Amino acid sequence: MSFVKKVVIVTGASSGIGAAAAISFSKEGANVVLVGRNEYKLQKVKEECAKTGNDLLVVKADVSKEQDAEKIIKETVDKFNKIDILVNNAGIVVEMSGILGDKVLAVYDSVMNTNLRAVVHITHLAVPYLIKSKGNIINISSVAGKMTMKTAPALAYSISKAALDHFTRCVAAELAPRGVRVNSVSPGPVKTDILDSAGVPISIESMAEIVALGRVSEAQEVADLILFLASDKAIAITGSDYVTDNGALLK
Ligand SMILES: NC(=O)c1ccc[n+]([C@@H]2O[C@H](COP(=O)([O-])OP(=O)(O)OC[C@H]3O[C@@H](n4cnc5c(N)ncnc54)[C@H](OP(=O)(O)O)[C@@H]3O)[C@@H](O)[C@H]2O)c1
Repeated sequence: MSFVKKVVIVTGASSGIGAAAAISFSKEGANVVLVGRNEYKLQKVKEECAKTGNDLLVVKADVSKEQDAEKIIKETVDKFNKIDILVNNAGIVVEMSGILGDKVLAVYDSVMNTNLRAVVHITHLAVPYLIKSKGNIINISSVAGKMTMKTAPALAYSISKAALDHFTRCVAAELAPRGVRVNSVSPGPVKTDILDSAGVPISIESMAEIVALGRVSEAQEVADLILFLASDKAIAITGSDYVTDNGALLK
């Protein structure tokens, strides 16, 4: 798969799945735009991408802030004059709570603003450029949007990912006549910082017990799928959701 000179925006590139995807795109020849808030972590990923010798851009931005979203697209186009691939990866868990949670609306607003509203906004801003380049979009969803959990529910997170799946289908249908593909990837548990960052006292590793294959994924496994869907090998694929969950949905 070659992404030589393709311009790829990866939101949430400072950590986990986004970092692995950004480095992989860079290794395949892309000019990658690394988006995140944590400058120290962005710098680490930048150093890895820079080893490939391909051009890159770091945009420190909070995707949930409208001006920051505009900055991501403007700085990308100012530097590279085009956008080929948008990976809407930035996402958060705020806390593991359900409808009985004390802060149900605050958690809902926070999660939806990052996991869904920001994706709608950034996609809206990027689409004119993706139509010009006949590019494509990959949204990072989750099996959490397709199953219910009796214990430790993350209600807002699950809703955000279920909505993201339908966003993917709707936008894929709208943009297909314009030659833009839109797909999503839905991981099960992956070893990243997501639960630590939320302060949730659950280890990703412990989730191996609740999936059929008895293992959790590395971020690179998800990055490999993202690259496949973004590549010309996936030319016939749009409006699809690819699950990589170690059999979580079988349970
Ligand atoms: N890990 C899993 O088990 C799992 C399973 C299914 C789906 N996913 C999904 O995979 C995606 C990546 O998560 P991850 O597991 O790789 O977690 P992670 O290691 O915590 O990475 C999350 C990334 O999102 C960025 N981010 C969060 N809020 C942001 C904001 N407001 N503005 C800009 N960047 C923001 C973070 O960057 P900064 O901190 O620098 O802002 C970080 O780079 C998420 O959409 C998540 O829902 C993860």
